[in-house]
Amino acid sequence: MISVRMRAELKGLHVSGAERLIEEGSLKQVVQELLRRPKAYDKLVITVEKVEKVFLIPKALTIYSYDFKCVEDARAFALEKLEEVGIKRELGQKALELLDKGPNPRGGNMRGAVLMDVQTGERLEPDKERGIRTVRVDWKDRKAIKQALLKRGIKRKYLNRLMDALALATKNVHCGVLAELCWSDDEDYTTGYVASNLGYIRINPLKELGKPIGGRVYFVKREDLENLIECLESKAVLIEALT
Ligand code: COA
Ligand code: AMP
Repeated sequence: MISVRMRAELKGLHVSGAERLIEEGSLKQVVQELLRRPKAYDKLVITVEKVEKVFLIPKALTIYSYDFKCVEDARAFALEKLEEVGIKRELGQKALELLDKGPNPRGGNMRGAVLMDVQTGERLEPDKERGIRTVRVDWKDRKAIKQALLKRGIKRKYLNRLMDALALATKNVHCGVLAELCWSDDEDYTTGYVASNLGYIRINPLKELGKPIGGRVYFVKREDLENLIECLESKAVLIEALT
């Protein structure tokens, strides 16, 4: 199969990223589709790479959605959900504070995720401005998944975002991430999530509207960190169906 990855920049800032794992025959069509994805850019890079082995995950994490009247209540719920999978309250709190102020030590967003030691709360990602990115993950049949999500009442304007984030979170759990806390750095998008083997729990609003700060915290065991990072970055994974 082929890994196709697109990233776009505007005035030196990353503004859009997307990827696909596809058969060679649909390369032209997929490249055209990815070219249309960013609204505006002054630089766009598409990488096309052959992939030898692809691992199949039969089912994505189960989706749940919860709405709250304010960020405070939504974050309290996120902490509860993290505790249910064994993340100590003080570590959940630390992750919330990190994403709230911006997890990049130089201020603002990172280019990937924080890896947080589930025992000590220490940050384990080798480069704390970059973080670790989960890549080489896609749906086996995107069209079918889109239709299924529309049928479940997901609004069309949120489809791409939900599909990308659910695929990413499903791969993370497969690789051994115990739990993930995320909200977007897009100032217009306030729905974040807690993901773990209990499911993909969408929570709104995890941040205030208009705030361009977000990120991801992966709670991980420090043993076997090398294999975990290798899996997140390099293992090619296709997800077959929704749960
Ligand atoms: N955020 C910020 N900068 C990014 C980035 C991201 N998500 N992805 C790439 N870049 C920039 C960085 O400057 C990076 O350099 P670095 O490695 O020093 O950070 C540079 O582009 C090259 O990145 P590379 O890892 O070679 O890109 P890639 O070709 O493997 O593509 C993407 C990675 C763009 C496909 C991936 O980041 C992505 O966006 N995935 C799909 C969408 C997704 O799942 N998003 C999650 C939210 S729903
Ligand atoms: P987004 O949901 O696209 O707004 O991304 C929110 C944050 O997640 C970004 O600020 C990055 O820190 C991080 N991020 C983006 N892409 C990835 C990825 N592929 N893997 C892990 N973290 C990512």
